[in-house]
Amino acid sequence: MFRKFASVGVPPAPGMQEGPPSGVPQAPAQQGVPQAPVQQQPGGSITSALALLMAMYMMYQHAHWTSKGPLFYMRHDLFARLYGSVSKDTDPLAEKIVGMVGSEALQISALSGEAAGFLQGLPPGQELQSGLSAEESLQNMLAGLINAAKSGQFSPGVENLLQQLFDSSETRAYLLKQHLA
Ligand SMILES: [Fe+2]
Repeated sequence: MFRKFASVGVPPAPGMQEGPPSGVPQAPAQQGVPQAPVQQQPGGSITSALALLMAMYMMYQHAHWTSKGPLFYMRHDLFARLYGSVSKDTDPLAEKIVGMVGSEALQISALSGEAAGFLQGLPPGQELQSGLSAEESLQNMLAGLINAAKSGQFSPGVENLLQQLFDSSETRAYLLKQHLA
């Protein structure tokens, strides 16, 4: 139901395999299934994480605005907390990317296009599930990036930020799960 987030092609970090952290067996690539292009641009996959955060901000804020019904107050406040959390995560990531690669890494058309792709086809009335799916996608992206950082492809400061973003996403996922239970 939240296929867009779950199936989004995440370009692997340079030299990294896409998917779960190392040690987790992976299914072989299926023939005929388009593979995400490996981005040669430094920071290419980290900008996908930024685009996903931008999309999540919009999704959570929209859910905040459109909450209604008997659970209005709870959901309205939940989504406000979620988009506030995403907002706090987005800015330092963008600034790290600029510090690492340069401002040319943040092309507004590319970022907004990728963010729009994440948001396309989200089912109305499934905001909690869509949020959880988005958090899982983000955590998968971040896990790959953290592994890349551990192998020296990003600085310790970037690795530290990625860990913080992962922690923050886990907290949001917890909140969503408790509302879904
Ligand atoms: Fe508000």
